[in-house]
Amino acid sequence: MPSKEFIQGLPKAELHLHIEGTLEPELKLQLADKNQMDIGFKTIDEIKESYLFNSLPSFLEVYYSGMSVLQTEDDFYQLAWAYLEKAAQHNVRRAELFFDPQAHTSRGVTFETVFNGYYRAVSESDKLGISTDLIMCFLRDMSAESAAETLEQALPYKDKILGVGLDSDEKGNPPLKFAEVFRKAKAEGFRLTMHCDIDQENSIEHIRQVLFDIGVERIDHGTNIVENQEYVDYINKHTIGLTCCPVSNGFVVDDMKGQEIIELLEQGVKVTINSDDPAYFQSYISDDLYALAQVYNLTTEQVVQLAKNSFEIAWISDEEKTKFL
Ligand code: HPA
Ligand code: ZN
Repeated sequence: MPSKEFIQGLPKAELHLHIEGTLEPELKLQLADKNQMDIGFKTIDEIKESYLFNSLPSFLEVYYSGMSVLQTEDDFYQLAWAYLEKAAQHNVRRAELFFDPQAHTSRGVTFETVFNGYYRAVSESDKLGISTDLIMCFLRDMSAESAAETLEQALPYKDKILGVGLDSDEKGNPPLKFAEVFRKAKAEGFRLTMHCDIDQENSIEHIRQVLFDIGVERIDHGTNIVENQEYVDYINKHTIGLTCCPVSNGFVVDDMKGQEIIELLEQGVKVTINSDDPAYFQSYISDDLYALAQVYNLTTEQVVQLAKNSFEIAWISDEEKTKFL
């Protein structure tokens, strides 16, 4: 099994990372203090003790309430920059960052404030040796109309946003709810991905929808696909990769889903390992890879393949990929 140092040193692309999920307790307290907000916690330990989630909804409650401290453009910049500095320590060379504009616009922060702060960090990330882009996610537990309004707000910045995704609570919110907004996003030149969270009531039907009705280029999570050989063959044929997050899975479904990840890897699927919400799950990308390697006794070859897959399915040019493959 490869060592922690070896895993940390491997060049990696992080493709499934919610930038709001990188808000560490230290920065949360600092911003609450600066913005004169009472968040109900006075210490880092108190904040960490409140991280008692065992399902996606219970996680999302903590995640959305935590981000209320983000108020000014500079707050968003600081959050993204702090993540990128951390990512550089894990030898992340390519980062495709999800951001959730509706989680901020719904509480009165403008789209411009959010976008400009994040984009400033993104545009400085080459100083850290990281190539970075943004993927705008719609919150699937909000309406399709709200997603459409958010897409309208993003259009002036469309050359600075690489793709769109879909996150938040999947129960009762199937991919098809957003078919029209994703059709429009594609026509405007955005690349497409969507979450298919683990062990949903309709996991296989949701995977069918993202593949055949929406036409995504990647699936975020999506390991339930192992239950349907026809769909596994389809994603292999079309090089549609999966962005998996084992430590996050451990929290929300009490199973890292390592067996499924290994099975898919052995079938040649472009599976990748990512951190999802590292400040909440207390696990950055190398920690996720190491945890998976330890629990499932992965070989060095398997770990290297997982890291290589991340560049293969990254939304970068073939020329940029060859630097890492
Ligand atoms: N799943 C769905 N939505 C999310 C997540 C997640 O893990 N993190 C932030 N939004
Ligand atoms: Zn996610």
